[in-house]
Amino acid sequence: MYVRALALTDFRGYADAEVAFDAGVSVLVGPNGQGKTNLVEAVLYASTLESHRVATDAPLVRTGTERAVVRVAVVRDGREAVLEIEVNPGRANRARLNRSPLPRPRELLGLLRTVLFAPEDLALVKGDPDGRRRFLDTLLTVHQPRYAGVRADYDRVLRQRSTLLRSAAAARRSADLGVLSVWDEHLARHGADLLEGRLALLEQLRPQAAASYESVAPGGGGLELTYRHSLGEGPLTGLDRDALTAAILDALERLRPQELDRGQSLAGPHRDDLVLTIGELPAKGYASHGESWSAALALRLGSYALLRADGDDPVLVLDDVFAELDSARRGALAELVSGAEQVLVTAAVPADVPAALSGARYDVQRGTVNRAG
Ligand SMILES: Nc1ncnc2c1ncn2[C@@H]1O[C@H](COP(=O)(O)OP(=O)(O)OP(=O)(O)O)[C@@H](O)[C@H]1O
Ligand SMILES: [Mg+2]
Repeated sequence: MYVRALALTDFRGYADAEVAFDAGVSVLVGPNGQGKTNLVEAVLYASTLESHRVATDAPLVRTGTERAVVRVAVVRDGREAVLEIEVNPGRANRARLNRSPLPRPRELLGLLRTVLFAPEDLALVKGDPDGRRRFLDTLLTVHQPRYAGVRADYDRVLRQRSTLLRSAAAARRSADLGVLSVWDEHLARHGADLLEGRLALLEQLRPQAAASYESVAPGGGGLELTYRHSLGEGPLTGLDRDALTAAILDALERLRPQELDRGQSLAGPHRDDLVLTIGELPAKGYASHGESWSAALALRLGSYALLRADGDDPVLVLDDVFAELDSARRGALAELVSGAEQVLVTAAVPADVPAALSGARYDVQRGTVNRAG
């Protein structure tokens, strides 16, 4: 698939902008702070309904205005669909598909598949578990959109259960404990659903990421992905959803005293981590800067291969990555993406973009975009 056109209203620094793209490589060039990342962020937002840079929607709306609109025309198998999302911070967002309103924005998910490479990816390796959980869950929803609903349900139940735990902890009211067990059931059910999705995704991602690591860092010790769960001892592999539900309920029962002490939910997918191991050692805390970059790249390249295995080429977005990589990793990346249906590249310095990725060029200057060749 590819993005044929992008139209923005009051998104980030753009008051009004329209850009047409072709399949193949498009390179967005301009000095720092001119709006290159803002442009690809809009494409990613239409794909994932979240920003890769900020956790809330407010910064996406141009200062002094109330709402932003992103419209993307996507061509898939020769047919075009127009995805439109209205970003209303503090209120519900609205979405339209081919100009018809949708009951929920998340019905847009899956229509535009993207894989992003960005400087922020290094935090996937070096940063907190939160970023790795988000990586897995975002990939999961792009891969299987029904998980957007599962995530939303789980987050809602988690919030409500945690509020109850805090008030029960403060008041030490035994009456709340009966109510709590109802929330345990909800948390376990939605949590098991999410867990099952993550584990199945990881089974597919693991070999893809390992192969990608080998191509980016040949002989570099190998990259292994493992899921670290919060439900006690032993692996979860092979457990079906009922068994996962039971495992969460067990863990909650065991952790009840600590939960009441701390007023927090202490077991479930929100406490888990995706552990990256290079050779024998955990990447976090041990890997060199270059190895960390290779691992981050491998996660993204592996995601790309996983989505592509469905028979649908995702749009690749390379935001400012070439400046960060040494020439071997640049070359490996350029080679691996040269067969992609569409690649959107941003760079402050055109010379950073490998020759293999030459294509249409766009100049980005103070919130305007012009095709240069
Ligand atoms: N909500 C907003 N309203 C107005 N302007 C914004 C908003 N959000 C971001 N900007 C402006 O957008 C600019 C950043 O744009 P962007 O991140 O796309 O730059 P870039 O071209 O990718 O630069 P670099 O090469 O440094 O990565 C900043 O100058 C910022 O002031
Ligand atoms: Mg940028």
